[in-house]
Amino acid sequence: MPNVTCYLVANWKMNGTADFASQWLADLGRSRNAERQVIACAPATILGNPAVIAQAKAAGVALGGQDCHAKTDGAYTGWISAPMLAGLGVCAVIVGHSERREHAGESDADVAAKAQAAHKAGLTAIVCVGESLAQRQAGQAETLVESQVRASLPDSATTSNTLLAYEPIWAIGTGQVAEPGDVAAMHRHLAAVCSDMGLPGLPLLYGGSVKPNNARELLALEYVNGALVGGASLDAASFAAIIDAAPGGKV
Ligand code: PGA
Repeated sequence: MPNVTCYLVANWKMNGTADFASQWLADLGRSRNAERQVIACAPATILGNPAVIAQAKAAGVALGGQDCHAKTDGAYTGWISAPMLAGLGVCAVIVGHSERREHAGESDADVAAKAQAAHKAGLTAIVCVGESLAQRQAGQAETLVESQVRASLPDSATTSNTLLAYEPIWAIGTGQVAEPGDVAAMHRHLAAVCSDMGLPGLPLLYGGSVKPNNARELLALEYVNGALVGGASLDAASFAAIIDAAPGGKV
């Protein structure tokens, strides 16, 4: 993954078919600025479609997976491994999204093993962390997220093969965006934690109800190097507006 100033990652979750992806890429147009890296994390069924792969390449949009198994192969019905994703030309994979931590019971150790598998396959791991509302209200957000980061980043993590996404769980899909001051404080803390772990300058993404109307303010914050966008990324026009809101301005 090239070192750019801003990463805009779309997380389509369990939405879309190849037709959707093709229309989305056509509507998005060519990605706007070499300073920005646009990654569409699509369902695996879309990632294997040769027409979509070619269209994404032409549009300057990298493709990413939404999860991978920690093992390379074996008797794991329904799972997909990191080398399988890499074999499709995919460049990145999300690991440890809160929906997987919650619904698939993934622990920090599981997430670290998946991230390590991604690195071994040559993929960028987009490692997600974030606190619940109860944890934030109890004043434990920074401590909790720090412990997730320390346990979820494997030894194989470097500043060029990993993106760390801070996504407060209560802000995901709720329309309830974190206060910019709280995001700034958390990202400042995470930057210090990453430095302490020997990863100074690790790109930090914010996620949780990022929309065209709040993206500019969030993306301008110090230590915010991009956004992980769920709901608003399904609409190409909204996601394009978020790309345009990234530092550097509309081109
Ligand atoms: P949201 O999702 O933008 O819909 O809140 C973010 C995410 O789950 O990555």
